[in-house]
Amino acid sequence: MSVQMLGARHRSAYDRKPTPSSALAHIPGDDGWPLVGHTLVLLSDPKGFVERRAQRYGPIYRSRAFGQTNVSLLGPEANELVLLDSQKSFSSALGWDVLLGRLFPRGLMLLDFDEHRLHRRALSVAFKSGPMQSYLRQLDTGIAKGVAQWPSGREFKFYPAIKQLTLDLAATSFLGAQLGSELDSVKLAFIEMVAAAIAVIRVPFPGTQMGRGVRGRALIVEYFNRQIPLRRERGGDDLFSQLCRATWEDGSLLSNADIVDHMSFLMMAAHDTLTSSLTSFVYRLAANPLWQEKVREEVRGLKLAADEPLAFSRLDELALTEMAFKEAMRLAPPVPSLPRRAVRDFDFLGYRIPAGTGVNVNPLYTHYMPEIWPEPERYDPMRFDADATRMRHKFAFAPFGGGAHMCLGLNFAYMQAKCFTWHFLNKFRVSVTSDYRPGWKMWPIPYPRDGLTVALTPV
Ligand code: HEM
Repeated sequence: MSVQMLGARHRSAYDRKPTPSSALAHIPGDDGWPLVGHTLVLLSDPKGFVERRAQRYGPIYRSRAFGQTNVSLLGPEANELVLLDSQKSFSSALGWDVLLGRLFPRGLMLLDFDEHRLHRRALSVAFKSGPMQSYLRQLDTGIAKGVAQWPSGREFKFYPAIKQLTLDLAATSFLGAQLGSELDSVKLAFIEMVAAAIAVIRVPFPGTQMGRGVRGRALIVEYFNRQIPLRRERGGDDLFSQLCRATWEDGSLLSNADIVDHMSFLMMAAHDTLTSSLTSFVYRLAANPLWQEKVREEVRGLKLAADEPLAFSRLDELALTEMAFKEAMRLAPPVPSLPRRAVRDFDFLGYRIPAGTGVNVNPLYTHYMPEIWPEPERYDPMRFDADATRMRHKFAFAPFGGGAHMCLGLNFAYMQAKCFTWHFLNKFRVSVTSDYRPGWKMWPIPYPRDGLTVALTPV
């Protein structure tokens, strides 16, 4: 059976109307306001909303948002049940479809079970150590160039600057350095698509964000389709060229449509998550100068010459940097909640939940549970030393999810974070004023509302 037929057969077997609220009356919770349910409060204060409901109803509750009743399951055991999904009870495709289906159809997170496994295996070739080494070379050059242009000695908005840099890096390491005159239009089209994924108006009327996103997708699809035969012919070290040569288990090449869908999805999955995590990381380093010094000492300990590239084989030496980055992601996980739809009835804490129900797990809530993370608001990278990590539940820290859909770009993310840290801290000391507390918008991807005001001074 072809991979496409597998997908169609599987999905039609479990796709069904969402469970109505009346069938979930036995689950603690309520439906919120008429029509909007809890949508507005969830959007304005997602962390406070979940914490208040947990306090009132406990670790399983129902709520109503975006026109659907969902059941939230909280804590590491819930994360394990849903993400590990040993019974194949939870569809990621049906969970993410509302947000991502129109612009990123058939990206990895929008595939399930056997079909997902085959696609994931085909894509994995692009994340093996050979290709990763060549992405690192691109990242190293791009980061050195980008960071060198940042100003020192005056106020600097970090978030827009890292967003631009991450986009430029994706253009070279994902698409190759030879984009030429098309570079700007491809980047703009991509930005419009990502922004549209979280647009409030979900219909692509002209002039709306969704309208611009759909137009951006058309341009990207056209560009990729035109490039695929060229990349197959002449090769290349970038991620796109890797996918153009990737094969199924029987040795046949992925179709153009598959490559287009996977490439668009990969760029989206990488871009905002890296922007968000590097922003919260730099904020924490700025607000914790002692930790900033320790991490700087570690990266400088590599003793690289001024223009010597950071080699892939040396990334493991940056253990403290990794711990400091993880602690920033604990406090602001780039994907704060993970949606699924149950495709079988299942049980949690004595409650039976029927197939068809929208289910959420919540890394953001889990990362602040005081019984797991004492003084949860405090920034303390030592929480990630080997001993502390060994003592914790495996799913207490879940910024990359877990199980079959665990982030495929996890090593790419650590690699980019380490490479960035080396260049950034080697060049600058970063600070914030002592009374500065940036307001974070935490959902759907955390970012500082004011762009994060920092000061950079030469080291
Ligand atoms: C700090 C950065 C990142 C974070 C926090 C992050 C987080 C996540 C999370 C939580 C998921 C699982 C979602 C779910 O189970 O519903 C995921 C999936 C995924 N991520 Fe990432 N991600 C990051 C960077 C990247 C990068 C750099 C890439 C690509 C180069 C990438 C590619 C993917 C892909 C392809 C999936 C889907 C995997 C699957 O469904 O099998 N991510 N990511």
